[in-house]
Amino acid sequence: MKHILPSLSIPMLLCITGTAMAQNVKLTDKQSIPRVIAAMTLDEKASLVTGMGLKIEGLPPGILPPSKPEDDKVPEAVPGASGRTHAIPRLGIPSLTVTDGPAGVRISPQRHGDTTHTYYATGFPVATLLASSWDTALVTQIGKAIGNEAFEYNIDVMLGPGMNIQRNPLGGRNFEYYSEDPLLTGHMAAAMVKGIQSAGVGTSIKHFVANNQEFNRMQLNTIVSDRALREIYLRGFQLAVKLAQPWTVMSSYNKINGVYTSEWPGLLTGILRNEWKFKGIVMSDWFGGTDVVKQLQAGNNLLMPGTAAQSDAIVAAVKSGALSEKVLDENIAGILQLVLQSRTFKHLPHSDNPDLTAHAALVRKAASESMVLLKNDSNALPVAAPGKIALFGNTSYKMIAGGTGSGDVFKAYVTDMDKALLQSGYVLDAGLQSEYEKYITEQRQQHPRPPGLFSTAPRIPELDLDPETVGRLAKYMDIAVITLGRNAGEGDDRKITGDFELNKDEQDLIKRVSDAFHQAGKKIVVVLNIGGVIETASWRDAADAILLAWQPGQEAGSSVADIISGNINPSGRLAATFPMAYTDVPSAPNFPGKELPGAQATPGNPLMGKPSEVKYEEDIYIGYRHYATHHIPVSYSFGHGLSYTTFAYGKPALSSPVFTAPLRVTVTVTNSGKKAGKEVVQLYLQSPAIKEGRPTQELKGFVKTRILQPGEKETVTFTLNAADLAYYSEEKKSWVVAPGAYKVLLGGSSADIKQTVSFKYGK
Ligand code: BGC
Repeated sequence: MKHILPSLSIPMLLCITGTAMAQNVKLTDKQSIPRVIAAMTLDEKASLVTGMGLKIEGLPPGILPPSKPEDDKVPEAVPGASGRTHAIPRLGIPSLTVTDGPAGVRISPQRHGDTTHTYYATGFPVATLLASSWDTALVTQIGKAIGNEAFEYNIDVMLGPGMNIQRNPLGGRNFEYYSEDPLLTGHMAAAMVKGIQSAGVGTSIKHFVANNQEFNRMQLNTIVSDRALREIYLRGFQLAVKLAQPWTVMSSYNKINGVYTSEWPGLLTGILRNEWKFKGIVMSDWFGGTDVVKQLQAGNNLLMPGTAAQSDAIVAAVKSGALSEKVLDENIAGILQLVLQSRTFKHLPHSDNPDLTAHAALVRKAASESMVLLKNDSNALPVAAPGKIALFGNTSYKMIAGGTGSGDVFKAYVTDMDKALLQSGYVLDAGLQSEYEKYITEQRQQHPRPPGLFSTAPRIPELDLDPETVGRLAKYMDIAVITLGRNAGEGDDRKITGDFELNKDEQDLIKRVSDAFHQAGKKIVVVLNIGGVIETASWRDAADAILLAWQPGQEAGSSVADIISGNINPSGRLAATFPMAYTDVPSAPNFPGKELPGAQATPGNPLMGKPSEVKYEEDIYIGYRHYATHHIPVSYSFGHGLSYTTFAYGKPALSSPVFTAPLRVTVTVTNSGKKAGKEVVQLYLQSPAIKEGRPTQELKGFVKTRILQPGEKETVTFTLNAADLAYYSEEKKSWVVAPGAYKVLLGGSSADIKQTVSFKYGK
């Protein structure tokens, strides 16, 4: 070397030394991150904070913003996954693969050129059903199974759980979300994150935040008070971050009070990182936000799925000084930390062969345990096999496992109820079964799913059975079961007419069957295979029993059969109120908001929607917080759900009559009925009045008992911390605990309070 050096100029020498050094730099561990960043070119930096783009087969060109042509040539590690990050091989940085979503691993079941293998994933129950379990251990078990499937399919980060608040029953993605209550939402999400991450796969809790509808979702300005934001919309995310430290958070599409969430430093840096000590990265929702500089400055590390225009804009902004390289580096440091955690970086092998059979068994159990028995007059259910069941409703023969859009999963099958009931030993009417099957096939052929990214197949009107057939069935069958179905998903909110409310053909079916069977002294059961709340008050009297099956995943029919037979005693409880009418919903006057005057769609991009605005005027009074406080009757209350047994509550005990340190509340629950079952013990708090107003009750704890045999008892313990007593004061811009008397309400639903006990806080 010595004899060459004198012939080289100093700049050339520096250049060689730099390259030589860079060649040795590799991402190895946390300590290597600063060196790796220092060795990156500006183009590499820009590529690392923008994903590799999105290809959707069958989508005409020009709809999605293009990614770099060279990226399109890199083969996907997992076909059909939702996104991937850029690799920088010379620095030892691999590309990560991320995919949806809340109900299982969304990937293509078939791969080009591979005829030897399918890549189906399990269709797990939707989030709303899981929340109805009120069972964090069960949700963690589901999370472990999803995480394991993701791991075996070579996925680094799952894009879920979804955890927006179900502000309004018409929210098109409510099925992907847990509840109208932030505490239940936060605990469910934390349980799911713990499960998935225990399998070595990351999560992305989404959509952060106040993204509670689909209407013009990419250009919607949500106008919301600080108090509602803190107490309702942020609270669940805060709990999930604290309890489970998700690897990533997904910022949402909407603006809040005029600022895109992905561009709001006060949210992503101030609240999420500084206040809550979040350690992971923030990624944008797909094509969310408009200004890459503001996004990176806000702490939105990764722009997904990434476009060529975004990385060009970042390079230009650094060159012009509009974006400091230090800010870019900080965002990259977070991404490299994520890379270090990933299974891809660790070269962990995968099988492409998860245990789908074991997961299906878990789905069946979890779904039936979480279904909610809304009504069960004179013990209409269970019905012992081999009972004769007259099975009505298209959905009985074509069950709905989950919603549409990115929350959907490509599963190998969905079990329908007719097959499952036969399998469980029941007798069905073969003529009725074949009539339904023929009708559904014809209707599907005549009205197929329309083209479009997020389209849903049209609802099939109920078969118009002639009264004689129904009368004949009422005579010789033991009981009638009618299933009603609903589906919705990303891209659209639901409608009141014909969706929230029953259609005329559905009302007619219920009436015809109910009249005939009741006349014959037989009972009728209605099964609701739905993803969001519907109207029940106008027709519930016609049914003896109503089973809310939600969208229970791929074992749908078998899970329902397990409840009908009593194999499983239902222990699900409502995670959302069923109101008497849509007009009672507190957000109804402000849903879905309105388009702004002169709002124009973004040319060439149908995904963008139009500039719009929604005002959260109901503020903190969401769901039962509204109905209970304002004494508005509901059809089925938050927390409600029947069992085939009953439970008695003993007198509760407090660790102290005055709150000076975390307070323990204990109560003993006894199975006072004749069947083994589980109770969900719910703790609501009634706080002293304050001038700003406060709901009359707020959920502050819940415990699901183990399975209790008749006569068996369990003592459950809750701990109340000062944070559970606090409200968010806009005046003080902080959480405040009001002095005075607090009342603890314990019971089996928000409206069925069995015991109370009081304590004092302060003077
Ligand atoms: C959805 C996200 C999803 C992403 C990737 C977006 O349209 O809002 O929930 O994770 O697409 O598929």
